[in-house]
Amino acid sequence: MRSLLLHLSESKRLAPLMMKNPVSRRVARRFVAGDNLDDAVAAARGVNQARQTASLDMLGENVTDEASARRSAENYLAIFDRIAQERLEANVSLKLTQLGLDLGTALCEELVGKIVTHAARYSNFVRVDMEGSAYTERTLGVVKRVRAQHENVGTVMQAYLYHTEQDVRELLEIGCRIRLCKGAYNEPPTVAFPQKSDVDANYVKLMKILLPSGIYHGIATHDPAMLQATKEFAREKQIDREQFEFQMLYGIRTDLQKQLVREGYRLRVYIPYGTDWFPYFMRRLAERPANLTFFLRSLVPRRS
Ligand code: FDA
Repeated sequence: MRSLLLHLSESKRLAPLMMKNPVSRRVARRFVAGDNLDDAVAAARGVNQARQTASLDMLGENVTDEASARRSAENYLAIFDRIAQERLEANVSLKLTQLGLDLGTALCEELVGKIVTHAARYSNFVRVDMEGSAYTERTLGVVKRVRAQHENVGTVMQAYLYHTEQDVRELLEIGCRIRLCKGAYNEPPTVAFPQKSDVDANYVKLMKILLPSGIYHGIATHDPAMLQATKEFAREKQIDREQFEFQMLYGIRTDLQKQLVREGYRLRVYIPYGTDWFPYFMRRLAERPANLTFFLRSLVPRRS
């Protein structure tokens, strides 16, 4: 089911149907702050009031023309302006295929460079999300080259990939900030652990490499076992709560989000917004069978 949903998340036919459907729009709102930047700002304000920080993500991926890539970049510049105007405790997450990675690395690198330079004026930070494994090497190349000019950019490492440990070690050598997650795409067993238990074990292994590195990393998960392992390891190694942050997605396990803050941990909430929510929404359905059941039930009209 997970593979099927992830496969469908790339469907160019299903996307417009789902995006027009009022029920899927309503269910998607559980995971997406709204259609526009005002909605994201309102969500970030709420998150900040709850003593959490935010990362704003303008949804969109795999643009097919240069004009769209340039428009996305302009939007990201405006997001940093707005974060500063509103005095939000927030940074930005973005995807390279939204900035033209499918059209060529040079265009994408130029646009990321502009965004990171703009963010640096506000002493703010850009997180480059990690997409499917076909993009990993190119993403790392762009991040490393842009980071050589401005240090306020980091990326994401996915525990399900066999190659991640080596990539993590290389990023640590240059001092790069990393968000550790399990990985959300459909990957073959030639590149990724097929078993969840192996992904979880690798997640813990990687967390134990990241935390003592002296670099500020994000431990992104809703999994109580991963949270517990991180807390225990930090305690054992006397790693201060200010030296890393937990990260979770908007609308997911808000009970755990509040609990972490109560316990004195730093928590950043990833806030996606925009009209292009279909692939993001499908990945969230794929992560949890109960989400799919809820969605399918919502589609069936209730008898009065
Ligand atoms: P796991 O999937 O084992 O879930 C543990 C528990 O969390 C579940 O039992 C359930 O209670 C809850 N949960 C998890 N997903 C849920 C959902 N969709 N709905 C409801 N409950 C859910 N991936 C990627 O490939 N590239 C990236 O750049 C990012 N970026 C990113 C940022 C942040 C802040 C987070 C938290 C996650 C990502 N991800 C990501 C997604 C990540 O790879 C992964 O798919 C999800 O976080 C789910 O994995 P968990 O670690 O939560 O564990």
